[in-house]
Amino acid sequence: MSTPWDTTYTHKSPAQRSWTEGIPQESLRFIDASGVGPDDAVIDIGAGSARLVDELKRRRFTDVSVLDVSSVALQEVRSRLGDANVHWINADVTRWKPERSYRLWHDRAVFHFLVESEQQSAYVQIVSDCVEPGGFLVMGTFAPDGPDTCSGLEVRRWSIEELSSLFDGGFDLVRGEYKDHLTPWAAVQPFTWVMLQRRLT
Ligand SMILES: C[S@@+](CC[C@H](N)C(=O)[O-])C[C@H]1O[C@@H](n2cnc3c(N)ncnc32)[C@H](O)[C@@H]1O
Repeated sequence: MSTPWDTTYTHKSPAQRSWTEGIPQESLRFIDASGVGPDDAVIDIGAGSARLVDELKRRRFTDVSVLDVSSVALQEVRSRLGDANVHWINADVTRWKPERSYRLWHDRAVFHFLVESEQQSAYVQIVSDCVEPGGFLVMGTFAPDGPDTCSGLEVRRWSIEELSSLFDGGFDLVRGEYKDHLTPWAAVQPFTWVMLQRRLT
């Protein structure tokens, strides 16, 4: 079934999408800081056509999963990467039933679209179920002074403290930063970045 995000990816080129970036610098910086290595399982949630998967494959990560609600976005990346060994998952993350665990869950600019508390709770439950003990959640959302809509959709903006408290049933904050993203047309979008670690017990 086609989603509004399919329409966006069909009609907007990468240069017309506010979230486009070249090398995903902040994501890689946080992933590097987590200490995960090429044998660890990593999933990019709502990956769109981001180049994080390209970078992880270039670094010889062997267990990379890419999830997005848009099959058009997934097809764009698959065409770019050819026959790279990646687990492709076309799903709405809030309804997804993961069948395995991951060492690192990455989400850039996806969670802030979940504006209903039921969606946020479902997301927290899924993360808690499938990030392994000692594993990491790396997340970038619009900051409190960030945009209040994106791609015509309402968003919920988050501070470091709010994200940390949302996940504090099972995760500890390792680091949090506020960083600006520059859109392809040089507009500034303030982002909140956190890395949380799942408790061992
Ligand atoms: C603003 S884009 C960010 C894409 C990518 N993470 C990046 O950093 O370039 C948001 C992405 O989240 C996806 N998305 C939105 N809601 C989703 C949901 N409920 N489940 C899975 N993916 C979703 C969209 O299809 C889109 O690719």
